[in-house]
Amino acid sequence: MLATQSDAVTREELSQQISAARLQTDHLFRIVKPESLYDRPIAERHRIVFYIGHLEAFDWNLLHERVFGVKSFHPEFDQLFAFGIDPVGGGLPTDLPADWPSIENVHDYVTTIRAALDDKLDAVTDFHTPLTDGFALDTLLNVAVEHRLMHAETLAYMLHQLPLNKKIRQAETRTAISSPITHRSIEIPSGEITLGLPRRGEWFGWDNEFEAHTVQIPAFAIDQYEVTNRQYLEFIANQGYETRAFWEAADWEWKSAQQIFHPAFWRRQGEQWLYRTMFEEIAMPLDWPVYVSQAEAKAYARWAGKSLPTEAEWQRAAYSAPDRGEHDCPYPWGKETPAARFGNFDFSSWNPAPVNAFPAGQSAFGVHGLLGNGWEWTSTEFAPFPGFEPFPFYPGYSANFFDGRHFVMKGGSPRTAACMLRKTFRNWFQPHYQFAYAGFRCVNR
Ligand SMILES: [Fe+2]
Repeated sequence: MLATQSDAVTREELSQQISAARLQTDHLFRIVKPESLYDRPIAERHRIVFYIGHLEAFDWNLLHERVFGVKSFHPEFDQLFAFGIDPVGGGLPTDLPADWPSIENVHDYVTTIRAALDDKLDAVTDFHTPLTDGFALDTLLNVAVEHRLMHAETLAYMLHQLPLNKKIRQAETRTAISSPITHRSIEIPSGEITLGLPRRGEWFGWDNEFEAHTVQIPAFAIDQYEVTNRQYLEFIANQGYETRAFWEAADWEWKSAQQIFHPAFWRRQGEQWLYRTMFEEIAMPLDWPVYVSQAEAKAYARWAGKSLPTEAEWQRAAYSAPDRGEHDCPYPWGKETPAARFGNFDFSSWNPAPVNAFPAGQSAFGVHGLLGNGWEWTSTEFAPFPGFEPFPFYPGYSANFFDGRHFVMKGGSPRTAACMLRKTFRNWFQPHYQFAYAGFRCVNR
C-alpha cells in the first residue's frame, strides 16, 4: 500500500484486507472439530483456543488506547491472550484445558472486539498523519493485518500436526502434473544486491526490513529447484541421520535426544514411506519439496558437498538478471502481481506441489519456485540490518529474536499471503523447528 494515497482509498483497501484476513483465520479454526479446540498439537506452543483469542487481543492491545483512547472492557483476556510462545531451551508449557476460558466466552470476546474496532475505524478520517510515536494508523493496521496473516500460516503448521481424525477435511487442490525433473545448478556471477527497504520509501515493511543497504556477493552456483523428497530419501538411504560427520554438534545432540530419524511430515510403514498432508496420508510425493528443520537441511547439504545459501545469495538468485545486475522488478518473475500461475502461495493449496510445477515463476537466472511452495532456509542468522530501529508499538517483534538462535527463511509457502511475498520480507525460525512449511536448496561456492 502506498503511503501517499488518499484516506478514502486507504480506508477501502484496509477494510478489505482486514475482512479478508479475518475470513482466512475464521476458516482455519473451523477445520478443527469443536471438541479438539483445547488440544495442543505442538508441545512447545499454546493450545489452539489461545490463538482464537490472541488474534483479536493483538489488534485490540495495539489500537484501543494508542489510537482510539478507549478503555478495555476485558483486561483479563487482553492479558491472557497477549503473547504466543517461542521457547528457547526452556521447559514446555504445562497448563491444562481447564485453565482456559470457555469457547463461548472467547467467541464473545472476539465478536465484541471486532465490533468495537470496526466502529472506531469507520469514523477515522486520517490514516496517514503520524501519531505520538511517529507512525501513522495505516502502518498500525498493516501490522494488524500481517500479524493475523502470519498466524494464518503458522496455525496451519500447528493444525497440520493435529491428528487427522480431529480435523474436518477440506477440498484440496493438487498440482500433480509436472514433467520429469532434471536437477542442475545455475551459475550466478559475482555482483551486488540490495537488501531491505529504504526508511523514507512508500511501502509498508516490518522493523527488521529496514534499512536498505547494498551487499557485494562473490560468484556461486545455486540449485535450480528446491530439494525434493526423492533427493532427501537418498540422504536417508545413505545413513544421513546416523552419520555424525554430516551434523553440527548442537544439531546432532538435538537429533539424538529427540530420536529424530526423518522429516516430521514423513511416516514409515514397513518398507514404505508415507507423507502426511493436512488431511490425509498418501504415498510419498517424490517431486514435492522436502520440509525439514534447518538442522536437517544443513546435514543434507553437507552430505551433498554443498551449503545452504546466505540470505544475500538467495536474494541475488531471485532478483538479479544475467545481463542487468539487480533488476527493479518486485518479484522473481517480473512486475506482475502474484497470481496462481507464478507459484503455490496465497492460501491456494493446503499442500506443496512438484518443485517444477510453476515455470512461469522462475527468476531471470532461471531459478524455479523461489516464492511459494515452501520457505527456504538460509544459513544467515536473523540479525538487524544496519540502521534497524524496533517499532515502538511492538518492540519485541524482531528484537526478541536477535539472539543467535534463529535463522532467516526467504520465499513463502502454500499458506503465505500474497502481501508477504514482497522482496524484503524476512521470516525466521529456530534451527530445530521441524513443523514449518520450509525446505531448502543448496549452493556451491
Ligand atoms: Fe502473535
